[in-house]
Amino acid sequence: MIQNIHLTRRWPNAVESDLESLGKVVRNESDEPLSREELRHALQTAEIVCPTVTDQFDAELLLGDQVKTRLLANFGVGFNHIDIEAAKHAGISVTNTPGVLTDATAEIALNLLLSSARRTAEGERHVRAGAWVGWRPTHMLSTQVTGKTMGIVGAGRIGIAFARKVHHGLGMKILYTSRSEMPESVALELSATRLDLNDLLSQSDFVSLHCPATPETRHLINAETLGQMQGHAHLINTARGDVVDEEALLDALQNQVIAGAGLDVYEQEPVLVPGLDTLDNVVLLPHMGSGTVETREAMGQCALRNVQAFLAGELLPNKVV
Ligand code: DGY
Repeated sequence: MIQNIHLTRRWPNAVESDLESLGKVVRNESDEPLSREELRHALQTAEIVCPTVTDQFDAELLLGDQVKTRLLANFGVGFNHIDIEAAKHAGISVTNTPGVLTDATAEIALNLLLSSARRTAEGERHVRAGAWVGWRPTHMLSTQVTGKTMGIVGAGRIGIAFARKVHHGLGMKILYTSRSEMPESVALELSATRLDLNDLLSQSDFVSLHCPATPETRHLINAETLGQMQGHAHLINTARGDVVDEEALLDALQNQVIAGAGLDVYEQEPVLVPGLDTLDNVVLLPHMGSGTVETREAMGQCALRNVQAFLAGELLPNKVV
């Protein structure tokens, strides 16, 4: 039987073509986010729906009438936009795409670290605005990164990949806080020390977030925890927007509670808390951590393998639930 596979957004061409060999693919030609009613319709008409981070699948939708979908093959590793308990209850399997975006996301965290500390985004704006009048010893001074202390919140795949880049590449001392310990060999390789969040925040020159978005990590970084960071510290977030209370961060940046921040993710994407985009001490990127050609194709292929396994009645390679 030909199955309907509903893609909520456009995927790289090569992967869309490969998916077409598996069933009847319904594409979203406009590539606009689907409305709630369109998501409901997808659930009622397609056995397999392939969502992304822009699709909110909550309990009301997943447990709604006439839901036909049996697999949500997510294009992405994060799945906080899907109510996993409700999916389980509705008998819908959920898969994700771990592993393939680790280095791409760690690269963007590295980019944010360097651009926040070294003021490169601000410097670029300065040149483009025609404001640069030439070199001088006191112009646009910034903070050196090499040899400083990096605090990593969440030592999963991406946190570890990022720690490797900054430890081996920039000689940074690694502190981390995480639900579980790093494998011993990795902790040794990185000379990493595990601390609780408060100690990590007060001892780090830079803090980079790599934890998943869960009820426990929501607003983990808030007015109080920002206050525990050092005044010269910078915060990097490539994880999920709601790990940070964005209003509190705005306030901390405006009042120099911390020196700077580099963000790839936001609480209400694509809307920013008003005022954030007027500050020079924050670098703002449009959720592009996994956005390389290689990685997006690999994410598509990974989702495709989950679809293939589902259709063949095999074990799902990246089953979340
Ligand atoms: C991911 O894979 O989680 C990326 O942030 C895109 O959703």
